[in-house]
Amino acid sequence: MATKLRDVNDWRSQPSPKWAEPELKGHKIPGYRYHSEEFWKQEWENMWTKVWLLLGRASDIPEVGDYQMEEVGPESFLMVRQEDNSIRAFYNVCQHRGARLIFNDLGTVDAFTCPYHGWRWEIDGTLTFALDPEDFPEGDPCGKLTLEEVKCEEFAGFIWINMNPEAETLKEYLGPIWDDWNSYGFDTWKRYQAMRVRAPINWKVVLDNFNESYHLPAVHPESDTTIEENYKWTQFDLSDEGHNRMIMKAGVPSRSLQGKNVPLLREPLISTLKMWGLDPADFEGREYETREAIQKAKREEGKKRGYTHYDNLRDDQLTDAYHYTIFPNFAVTAWADGFHFLRAIPHPTDPTKCVFDNWWYASQPEGETAPVFTAAGPIDRDAEVDLDVFDYGEKSLGFAIDQDMGVTAGQQLGFRSRGFNGVYLSGQERRIRRYHEVIDEYIEGKRPLKGN
Ligand code: FES
Ligand SMILES: [Fe+2]
Repeated sequence: MATKLRDVNDWRSQPSPKWAEPELKGHKIPGYRYHSEEFWKQEWENMWTKVWLLLGRASDIPEVGDYQMEEVGPESFLMVRQEDNSIRAFYNVCQHRGARLIFNDLGTVDAFTCPYHGWRWEIDGTLTFALDPEDFPEGDPCGKLTLEEVKCEEFAGFIWINMNPEAETLKEYLGPIWDDWNSYGFDTWKRYQAMRVRAPINWKVVLDNFNESYHLPAVHPESDTTIEENYKWTQFDLSDEGHNRMIMKAGVPSRSLQGKNVPLLREPLISTLKMWGLDPADFEGREYETREAIQKAKREEGKKRGYTHYDNLRDDQLTDAYHYTIFPNFAVTAWADGFHFLRAIPHPTDPTKCVFDNWWYASQPEGETAPVFTAAGPIDRDAEVDLDVFDYGEKSLGFAIDQDMGVTAGQQLGFRSRGFNGVYLSGQERRIRRYHEVIDEYIEGKRPLKGN
């Protein structure tokens, strides 16, 4: 029997329930927040050192002794696979006289040997060799000193760390994200695009941009072919934990096209219909029914074609863009089969710069051979993707992100102006206001909610 799409007894036919909507205070967001060194220091001491940060990928360090090194602001962390298959994370600093131990992004070691005086730190952080151990007035450092450990957990295939020893669990921190993400099975998804750009913008400029869709008609005019971009039909969610969600209906032309003299069915929607066995010609005169038809086709055909995770997704998740901003620095657009990974990492000292990661992960349906459609175009399913690091302007980040970067680099310049009087936000941009209020709550010592 054919699957009924809107079986009211099936939770999957229900739209995602709204999250709690905390009350907003509505204070100004002045330009200095994006370039002041003083404000940068307040953020670092009170916020960055107290939050869970998504730093690594568990599948990148599968064997005992494999490590991944990631930098955040002035800090550097080592995430290391242990004998018992767990992952532990340490500050990347020798406890003898402060040398950084590792400079590679990825590698494998028996132990970390400090390049300065050769102290040997085991992968569990213990010290097992120091030259001339009898010569230390405070006693032999072996058996006494360890690498400084940070909290470390795995979720969605990623490695998360927290510098706050009293931090709440990652599950508590993520709140409603936890269940939402588990349904996709992100831990099995593979990376198909990995661009890291040194960008001339404050890290919050990246997150502000992904915290609103108000810029779509001006910056991404082509998105109206397959996304309902109008805020009136978009669901915005704010969580108590400080994270945001936006659900945009997709797989359908925007209603903003009605009455304009343009064809409603265009790419990439035409290709999506064909991929799921639907004839675009059948939708002439009923172009706004494509979304539901794609959902139905995916529900009926998906599992047979290896897309087994569809069983765990709502009908809406089969077509729509579930966009998350996870406090503080991680934005994700989750589609049924693609995961746009957008992360901003603060510069060690300069508040007007950040590192911006523009990556793409995709599901791995068994037997699927078609290319993966990333935001930067199709990529062969067997492709191995290495991290590509470059300066802003050197090369393209893909069409849509180039569009975003072009305007936000100019915005960063505007924040310096004496003539800028602070933001003037629309209701649909309230996720930006919320984000800044959560930053301020950290600075004021009101967060983290637990483990403060
Ligand atoms: S600083 Fe590491 S062994 Fe001296
Ligand atoms: Fe954008």
